[in-house]
Amino acid sequence: MPWNRLSRAARQRRGWDAGLSGENEFWTRWLQGRGLTESEDYRRRIDATTEILEHLKPLIEAPVGSRVDVLDVGAGPLTAVGAVWPGCELRVTAVDPLAVQYNQSLDRLGIIPPVRTQFGEAEHLLDQFQPESFDLVYSRNALDHSYDPMLGVSNMFALARVGGVVRLEHSVNEGRNQRYRGLHQWNFDVQEGRFVIWNKAKHIYVDKVLPPQARITCEKHDPARSGMPHWLNVTIMKTCQVRSELPQQRPMRQ
Ligand SMILES: C[S@@+](CC[C@H](N)C(=O)[O-])C[C@H]1O[C@@H](n2cnc3c(N)ncnc32)[C@H](O)[C@@H]1O
Repeated sequence: MPWNRLSRAARQRRGWDAGLSGENEFWTRWLQGRGLTESEDYRRRIDATTEILEHLKPLIEAPVGSRVDVLDVGAGPLTAVGAVWPGCELRVTAVDPLAVQYNQSLDRLGIIPPVRTQFGEAEHLLDQFQPESFDLVYSRNALDHSYDPMLGVSNMFALARVGGVVRLEHSVNEGRNQRYRGLHQWNFDVQEGRFVIWNKAKHIYVDKVLPPQARITCEKHDPARSGMPHWLNVTIMKTCQVRSELPQQRPMRQ
């Protein structure tokens, strides 16, 4: 169908499909150059003894001996989350739409990942995983690369256990900053203290879409003060069970 007759969502999806090859090329080069080259980041990611990122620990209630389930959405070829948490049984699941291509590159280069990324799109997570099955549902620098990030956030929230969290870590307004090239079609920002997802066509206050059981906090880094790039961390706690996720009640027998 010609471009001008497609719906906005279909155009978004087509543009996303087209952008994926550039993303794969970037990560192929990155793997070939061992993280361009042998960077600390690369070494962390290929080491099976790497501990879970320190700043993620306080987000998860993890008594000694407990099992902790983490989902990394848009993990790339090698998740940055880490592979172990001393005293706990850490299970990291990593998904990415380019998993097949990434795994081909890893195999070709003889790199054995501590966690193998499997195929998955943020928009279709509920076809793949049961609701409320993760303590932490994480995405870094990836959800704003998706074709429908609001749907992605809703799905991620559904997958978090009660008392669990969704954690999003992204550059502020990446789409605009990258001039909407490639997979950079969306912006994440804070406006009036609220988490906003927007682009040229849409402007979404996330708290209006998520159920009231979502407690959202946003933390924006000011590069002048922190020395870091403009970066936005969003933490979404699931405070109690969402009604649609409650098991169906059977009608009482007469
Ligand atoms: C810049 S990389 C970030 C990888 C990794 N999270 C990191 O921090 O190194 C962006 C990733 O988002 C993935 N991505 C793009 N669209 C996605 C979608 N709809 N659902 C999940 N991941 C997606 C890309 O394939 C790519 O691997």
